[in-house]
Amino acid sequence: METLKTIMTRRSIRKFENAPVTEAQIKTLLEAAMNAPSAGDGRPWHFVVTTDRAKLDALADSVDEGNAMFKQAQAAILICLDESLEGFKGFGQQDCSCAAQNLQLAAHNMELGTVWIAIINVPPRTAGCRKVLGVPDNLVPFALFPLGVPGETLEAEYRYDESRIRRV
Ligand SMILES: Cc1cc2nc3c(=O)[nH]c(=O)nc-3n(C[C@H](O)[C@H](O)[C@H](O)COP(=O)(O)O)c2cc1C
Repeated sequence: METLKTIMTRRSIRKFENAPVTEAQIKTLLEAAMNAPSAGDGRPWHFVVTTDRAKLDALADSVDEGNAMFKQAQAAILICLDESLEGFKGFGQQDCSCAAQNLQLAAHNMELGTVWIAIINVPPRTAGCRKVLGVPDNLVPFALFPLGVPGETLEAEYRYDESRIRRV
């Protein structure tokens, strides 16, 4: 898919088919995420990956208020922030956001679905990720991405809004 088309047609997918996400697809998603820009090229991220059915089911209860999404997902990637690797102090959340958007766009380009599940600054979800995925204390769980073949089709939305632009 052409890059701009990928950007303009991406939507958050919260329903998934019972079809596998392959190790090759996961590797490509991680390659895309790790190719993101970061302040001072610090790359202050770690990725926790699971395809384990029991862990995915547990994420539904521990992180997503029992939603079916993680029970349908075939994989999940948790982006974690390692503040000790920040190229410039305090920029790590922006760096992880760049990785997150690369991951989302790569997934859409590969005809996989995902959605950004906020973890950082949501204490019960942070605790759930630590418990289910065994995240060590030195990493800060940032955002979680369930993955699967889309089980829903959402129309592209055109959100360009001239009123948000100030030409000076
Ligand atoms: C920082 C951030 C946090 C988000 N957190 C959640 C979340 O916790 N749960 C969820 O279902 N969607 C979450 N989303 C997805 C948004 O709801 C979604 O991007 C927005 O409604 C626009 O829809 P679209 O992604 O289909 O374009 C989050 C998105 C961002 C960027």
